[in-house]
Amino acid sequence: MAAVGEDRLGRYPALLDVTDRRWVERLTRPEYQREQLVSRALLRTVLARYLEAPPETLRFRRTERGRPELLGESGLRFSLSHTDGLVACVVAAGGELGVDVERLRPNDLSATVGRRYFSAAERERLDALPAELRAGEFFSYWVLKEAYTKARGLGLSMGLRSFTVRLGPGEAVLEPAAGGPEVAGGDGRPGVCWLELLEPSAEHRLGIAVLNTPQAPRVVSRWIVPLGSEAPASPRVIARTPPAVARREA
Ligand SMILES: CC(C)(COP(=O)(O)OP(=O)(O)OC[C@H]1O[C@@H](n2cnc3c(N)ncnc32)[C@H](O)[C@@H]1OP(=O)(O)O)[C@@H](O)C(=O)NCCC(=O)NCCS
Repeated sequence: MAAVGEDRLGRYPALLDVTDRRWVERLTRPEYQREQLVSRALLRTVLARYLEAPPETLRFRRTERGRPELLGESGLRFSLSHTDGLVACVVAAGGELGVDVERLRPNDLSATVGRRYFSAAERERLDALPAELRAGEFFSYWVLKEAYTKARGLGLSMGLRSFTVRLGPGEAVLEPAAGGPEVAGGDGRPGVCWLELLEPSAEHRLGIAVLNTPQAPRVVSRWIVPLGSEAPASPRVIARTPPAVARREA
C-alpha cells in the first residue's frame, strides 16, 4: 500500500474531464476533496487501460439511485468504495458487481448502531461472539452486505435486513433472510451472488459481491497509485463463496 503525496495529487486534475474537475474544485471540505480527487483519478486510470483511451476522455452517468456507470458500449462494469486511507475499485467485463471497504474501528459505535441493519440470524451470530471479536466481525458482515447492495445498484435503500450473510471458516454465503425474498441476480430475479471477503491491510476489510456469473470469479488484486507506483497485491482471503454452493443454487 503506498500513500499519495501532495506533489502527485496536484497532477490528478489533468486525469479528469472538465465536469469532474469543476465538481472536485467546488468541494470545500479538504479531506472529501482529496478522497474524490484520488478515487476519480484511480477509476479513470484503471478503466482507461481496458478501453485504451486517455483517462480524461472517459464519460460517466449516474443512475437515479446514484450508481456511476460508464457511457458507451464497452460492457465494462465497476464499483468504488472509499474509507480512511484506501480507495477500492473493482472492474469486470460484464456482470454486476459491488465493492465495499472499511477501516476497522474497534469498539466503534457503528458496531452497535449499525446492527439495526442486520438480519436476525446475523445479530444472533454476532451476539454469540466474545465481545473482543465482535467489532471486527461486524465489519466483515458489513462490507459484504454493502457490496451486495452496490452490485444490485440500490445502495442502502434496498433494506439490509432482507438478506443474510452466513460466515463460516473460509466461507461466505448470501442467503435470503427468514421470510424474505430470494437473493436476486443482476436482472432482479432469484439468482446467485458470489462473495469474497479480503484483508487488504491489517486495518481494513474489503467485500466484493458479483451477481450471476457462470463460474467463480477470479479476483486479481493490484495496489495502484495513479501516475505513480503499481504492484501486485495478495490480500489475505478471509472467506469466499464455495463453487459448490453457487452451482447448487444456479
Ligand atoms: C451507495 C452507498 C451504499 C455508499 O455508501 P458509503 O459507505 O457511504 O460509501 P462508499 O465509499 O463505500 O461508496 C460510495 C460509492 O458507491 C457508489 N455508489 C453510489 N450509489 C450507488 C448505488 N446505488 N449502487 C452502486 N454503487 C453506488 C459510488 O461510486 C460512490 O462513490 P462516489 O460517491 O465517489 O461516486 C450509499 O451512499 C447509498 O445507499 N446510496 C444510495 C442512496 C440513494 O438511494 N439515493 C437515491 C437518490 S439520490
